[in-house]
Formats: sequence, structure tokens, C-alpha cells
Amino acid sequence: MANTAELTVDGKSYSFPTLEGTEHEKAFDISNLRDQTGYVTLDRGYKNTGATKSAITFLDGEEGILQYRGYAIEDLAAKASFLEVAYLLIYGDLPTKDQFTQFETSVRRHTLVNEDMRKIFDGFPVSAHPMGVLSSLVSAMSAFYPDLESGKEDNTDLHIIRLLAKLPTIATWSYKRSLGHPTNYPKNQLDYIPNFLNMMFSLPVEDYKIDPVVVEALNVLLILHADHEQNCSTSTVRLVGSSQANIYSSISAGISALWGPLHGGANQEVIEMLEAIKADGGDVSKYVDMAKNAKTTGFRLFGFGHRVYKNFDPRAKIIKKAADDVLSKLGVNDPVLEIAKGLEEAALNDEYFIQRKLYPNVDFYSGIIYRALGIPTNMFTVMFAIGRLPGWIAQWKEMREQKEPIGRPRQIYTGATLREFTPLESR
Ligand code: SDX
Repeated sequence: MANTAELTVDGKSYSFPTLEGTEHEKAFDISNLRDQTGYVTLDRGYKNTGATKSAITFLDGEEGILQYRGYAIEDLAAKASFLEVAYLLIYGDLPTKDQFTQFETSVRRHTLVNEDMRKIFDGFPVSAHPMGVLSSLVSAMSAFYPDLESGKEDNTDLHIIRLLAKLPTIATWSYKRSLGHPTNYPKNQLDYIPNFLNMMFSLPVEDYKIDPVVVEALNVLLILHADHEQNCSTSTVRLVGSSQANIYSSISAGISALWGPLHGGANQEVIEMLEAIKADGGDVSKYVDMAKNAKTTGFRLFGFGHRVYKNFDPRAKIIKKAADDVLSKLGVNDPVLEIAKGLEEAALNDEYFIQRKLYPNVDFYSGIIYRALGIPTNMFTVMFAIGRLPGWIAQWKEMREQKEPIGRPRQIYTGATLREFTPLESR
């Protein structure tokens, strides 16, 4: 028998069905709440509200578990390639060799971007933040690669290939121009990550030597960022896509949401925070105290805390270990790594953080690795976007295939009640 939840309000009792997911998460189905009771729910930030059913990513915030389509993130980070994980997220299973060869070859052959997109890019000031450029250019892709007819999605797979293939190409343009260097074209003979690195770092005057240590480190980082169920930017992609907007406009909205310092922009904030602590003498306890008095100092420890993880973010554990490995293999000695470890140690032993279950999140150590790979701070969130792209695509595709209704939350109105209009001359 289906379980139900009983609600008594205004002296009347109501029953609502409950449901349980494959990992035993439970929910009340309140789809008919307002029709039955006249009440809506209020849940600021949707801390308790499930927006959908999804088969893509499972995470358990209490246990620190993260799985993509049932595969543990630890396994995927250690054994898979980023494009394999992209295929898994988008199409639901790890690809066979033939499937992967076809998928990877398609991506390889779509990395070139329409030259007219450069005219849009050239209109940005050199100082433009790469995330603003990326979001604009992805939105512009809808003009260069329109659906055959609106709502006719039979070429969705081609749009998916185009997004995966072209995002790294346009992502490098901002960096090259910030240096006054010419942008690089992709090379079909290079694999996905080497191609990105080559576009980022090669120069007309000398070839760029692809370092396998750098490739492997980026592969792990992109996999770890690939999806994270209904986070802010993914929910944005789903909401925009629920109006039948095209995939490029939906992904562009997701890039904009990710940019915020409380979300993907945190990886840039973390490095700037660690640099400030270093410049201020490296006294981490001073900054822990400032964070504890956030209401007066307005200071937050970026890279700490998470809406869902009330235990260690499993991604942070992997990245922290990778940071040690990569920096030692590259012979990089970055003092902010020790400051980060000292900050983590101080915070994890402080009652304020323990009580609020604030642990390092995915953004706390990632910037240290990006920096060791030669990637500048203002490109860190772009790296997050490149990693998260397959997750956004998978979630958008699932939303469309599930024929989700257009998203339209309700509200509790607290404004003025009806009042007479007073003509201007009388005011
Ligand atoms: C990502 O959702 C996802 O899955 C996101 C993500 C993904 O993969 O998509 O995991 C990626 O966005 C990671 C988070 C990156 N953001 C940061 O590192 C920014 C710093 N962290 C916080 O701003 C905060 O922890 C959030 C935004 C991440 C979560 O905020 P919540 O869940 O709304 O929690 P909250 O702001 O209500 O904080 C609860 C308490 C508050 O104290 P009290 O009012 O109870 O006294 O904890 C405090 C907060 O002041 N707190 C912090 C803190 N984070 C929360 N205090 C100091 N430093 C912090 N970082």
C-alpha cells in the first residue's frame, strides 16, 4: 500500500502520498496541496524542497557520498576519462568502446567555432571577466546553431556535441587576449584535455609541451565537477529549459548562476582569501575568528560549508590529496597550500564550525591545483563550468525527456493591499 502523510490544518485532515527513491530518500508529494488545502509551502532557498525526480546523480550529505549514475566518484576520478564520464552522465551508462569512439570522434570534429563568433568576442573589453564572456558566447551559439524549428529537438545530440566540443575553445579566448596573445585553434589530432591545454598555453613562437601530469590532474578535476544534482546552476538550467528555451540559452543561464561567489565563483574567492591571509602574515586563527563573527565582520571562509554536505565533501578529499601529488610532481612549492591546510585544521577544531558542520567543499583546494597548472585565478570558475557542462546537459536532457512542466514557484505576498490610485497632480 502506498504510504501517506497526514496534515491537519484549520480543523481538517488531508492525506498526501509519500514516495521513496532508490537510495531511500523520502518525500511528501504535495502536487495537490494548494488545490486541497488552499495553502502553499514556503521554503527559502529550497532547503527542503525537491524540484524533480532524477536518475543522474546521488549524493548523501551526511555520509559524504557522491555517485554519478550509480558509480562512486572515487572510482570515476581514478579510472575514467572526462569524456567517458560526460557520456555516462548524458546517456546513462558507461560507453562501450564503439560508442566511446563515435562520441569522442564527434567531439573532436566539432571543436572549431564559427569565425563570426569572434566579432562578438572582439566587442568585449579586455578586462571583461571570462565568465561573462563565456555566458554571452554560449548564448550566441543559439544564433549560429538554431534548432530546425522551435521545440523540434531531433538534433539535440548534435547540439550536445557542439557544446562539449566548443566550450573549451571559446573558454581559452579570454585568457589569450588578456595576455595580448593570439587565440589558438583546436587541433583534431589532440585529445580533449591536451587540446584545451594547447589552446591555453601554446604560442606561435614555440610549441607547448603537453605534460601528462597536468593532463591527469585536469582530468580528475573536470570529473569531480561534472555534476552535483540540483545545485543552484543546475536548477537554473532546468528552470530555463522548462520554458522550452533552447539548450544554449539554458546552459548560458547556468554559467551565469555558477559565477556567483557563493557557488562556483568560490574557487576564485578562496585563492584571493588565502593570498590575503598570506599577505597578512599567515595568521589563520585571526581569519577563523573573523568568520565566526561574520555578522559583524561580513567575512566568510570561502571554500567552507555546503548546503547539502554536513560532512566532508568527498570531492574536497580527493582534490586535497591531488594537490599534494600534483605540486610535488611539478616541483611547485605554493605557500598558500600550507596556509589552506592550516586554515582547515584550525576550523575543523573550532566549535563554531563543528556545530554548524562546516567542512572544506569542492572549491577549497581546487584553485591551488589550477594555479600550479598555470591557470590564472579569473579562469578558475571557467574551469568549473567546463567540468559542469556534461552535468548541466544531462539534467536538461532528463528534464525534457521527463516532459517536466514549466517551473513556476508560488509566493506569500507581503505588499500593500488594494488602494485607490491618486492622480499625479494630487500627490
Ligand atoms: C558550490 O549546491 C551545490 O552542490 C554546490 C556545489 C556544486 O558542486 O554545484 O557543491 C558547488 O557552490 C560549493 C559551495 C561554494 N561556496 C562557498 O565556499 C562560499 C562559502 N560557503 C557559504 O557561503 C555557505 O556555506 C554556502 C552558500 C555554501 C551554503 O550556505 P547555506 O547552506 O545556505 O548555509 P547558511 O549560509 O545558512 O549557513 C549556516 C550557518 C550560518 O551561521 P548562523 O547564521 O547559523 O550563525 O553557517 C555559517 C552561516 O553564517 N556559515 C559560514 C560559512 N558557511 C556557512 N560561516 C563562515 N564561513 C562559511 N564559509
